[in-house]
Amino acid sequence: MRVLIVGCGYVGLPLGAELVKQGHEVIGVRRTQDAEAELKAAGIQPLVADITKPEDLAKLPAPFDWVVNAVSSSKGGVEEYRQVYLNGTRNLIEWLTPTPPKKFVYTSSTSVYGRTDGSLVKETSPTEPASETGKVLVAAEKLLLGAVADGKFSAVLLRVAGIYGPGRGHLFLKYLKGEAKMTGKGERLINMIHRDDLIGIIMATLKNGRPGEIYNAVDDEPVAQIHFFRWLSETLGKWMPPFAAEAEAGDHKRGLTNKRVSNRRLKMELGYQFKYPTFRQGYTAEMTRLEREGKLDINLEAR
Ligand SMILES: NC(=O)c1ccc[n+]([C@@H]2O[C@H](COP(=O)([O-])OP(=O)(O)OC[C@H]3O[C@@H](n4cnc5c(N)ncnc54)[C@H](OP(=O)(O)O)[C@@H]3O)[C@@H](O)[C@H]2O)c1
Repeated sequence: MRVLIVGCGYVGLPLGAELVKQGHEVIGVRRTQDAEAELKAAGIQPLVADITKPEDLAKLPAPFDWVVNAVSSSKGGVEEYRQVYLNGTRNLIEWLTPTPPKKFVYTSSTSVYGRTDGSLVKETSPTEPASETGKVLVAAEKLLLGAVADGKFSAVLLRVAGIYGPGRGHLFLKYLKGEAKMTGKGERLINMIHRDDLIGIIMATLKNGRPGEIYNAVDDEPVAQIHFFRWLSETLGKWMPPFAAEAEAGDHKRGLTNKRVSNRRLKMELGYQFKYPTFRQGYTAEMTRLEREGKLDINLEAR
């Protein structure tokens, strides 16, 4: 297949490398040439384009059999979100409509579920996020689903949980630095997915995902903050982080939700089998990597 990966970053680049290994022709897009050497080394053809600019997209060598949109706003504010996720998605739809790919996969987010009571959410659950950024993601999803309904496009949506893996993992990295804090009683649930599993899920979706369908990309075990830190603490022999008010922990800015995201549809329909079914396997692999590279420097700070 001729594959276009828009947003060849933390997920897009190794996804492209894997597709190249499987014999596909892969073109990878970013706004800058920063990672050109890395993309080339992975066998990906690097191209520079900004999806917020239709004139950039017009220069890309369409048609493509598969397109993956894994662009990220790099934690920007609402306006950045609107530009990248909403306007960018609209531009991609308009650009691809005359020569539609066989499959288009979009990496949305589980933040579209606004649930705050810790209950189970499925793909059919309401998407009414309180945060403005969450609302932008819902609008981008609607654009894509509308394009599928109009027969323009074979798009499939993945609602991705917090991505972790080599060098990534927000709470884990803060914990290692001694900067993590638990909010409330530490009961808020964290939903995660290892990068390698997300790559496997995107590939399974490209092959077998049903157009117009949504799949939650999350592992088997949403975990309460306190249990996550307890496991880290016992595994690494390091103190539990202190408790803090939401504002102090910095969580208020992100309009945090609390929910248990189900991966049942992913497993039932796509038959996806996880390499790292829970954070325990995934973070054990990451700690082993860090240890091997001499980067797991645990200082048991005084209490
Ligand atoms: N991180 C998470 O926990 C999380 C959770 C849920 C969903 N997601 C979604 O998962 C996907 C993959 O995330 P990631 O962690 O791989 O993101 P990432 O590492 O930030 O990579 C995103 C890539 O997009 C490129 N990019 C940004 N703006 C662009 C634009 N306007 N046009 C073209 N390329 C652009 C960036 O390169 P340049 O800067 O060089 O352009 C970068 O290579 C994203 O869609 C993200 O929203 C992430």
